[in-house]
Amino acid sequence: MQREKTPPARAPSGPQIAVYPGSFDPITRGHLEIVERASSLFDEVIIAIGRHPTKHGYFSVERRCALIEASIGHLPGVRAAAFDGLVVDFCREVGAKAMVRGLRAIGDFEPEFRMAQANRDLAPEIETIFLIPRPEHMYVSSSLVREIASHGGDFERYVPGPVAEAMHSRYAAEGREA
Ligand code: COA
Repeated sequence: MQREKTPPARAPSGPQIAVYPGSFDPITRGHLEIVERASSLFDEVIIAIGRHPTKHGYFSVERRCALIEASIGHLPGVRAAAFDGLVVDFCREVGAKAMVRGLRAIGDFEPEFRMAQANRDLAPEIETIFLIPRPEHMYVSSSLVREIASHGGDFERYVPGPVAEAMHSRYAAEGREA
């Protein structure tokens, strides 16, 4: 007697959406590499800037959002947004089943591991996916870029063009070279 086969589980219909959360103050070429990798895996990628209740940051959240939008024109299906509260709540709100994070070096592992575990406890249906950047982006971070710029160093190589322009304008307005 032939037994009936159980059909394989089907992926849910609709676009596959991923959220890439962070502070992006400002977005760097390292972040962009992660976004490019993620956009080849998902139909839609939302770069999500977490609002901090007390920290103002180097650029305002609105400016960071605008700078991201100006840097991702070559990537269809990618957009920027800001969110308040928990990142898993934002994922649910936009229908994302995955959260993307970049894993640069061993030092990133411990905090990322804790955050992924906490997020899984809060929302087991949302997966955290780690993407590893190319070696030249392994040590890049937003604060490193800000520090190099504040000392007049060559920071442009680490950030997309619109961010470099915005940083130059900022230092020019302050009467300093960047
Ligand atoms: N390229 C360059 N830099 C990168 C990078 C990459 N691929 N990946 C990470 N970084 C850098 C960032 O530039 C930043 O550098 P800085 O500290 O020098 O500015 C640093 O790594 C921290 O990364 P970021 O991605 O901004 O994460 P974060 O640890 O500040 O977290 C949120 C930001 C928004 C994801 C987090 O605060 C959050 O989820 N908040 C909401 C509350 C919540 O849900 N918490 C989790 C559950 S408890």
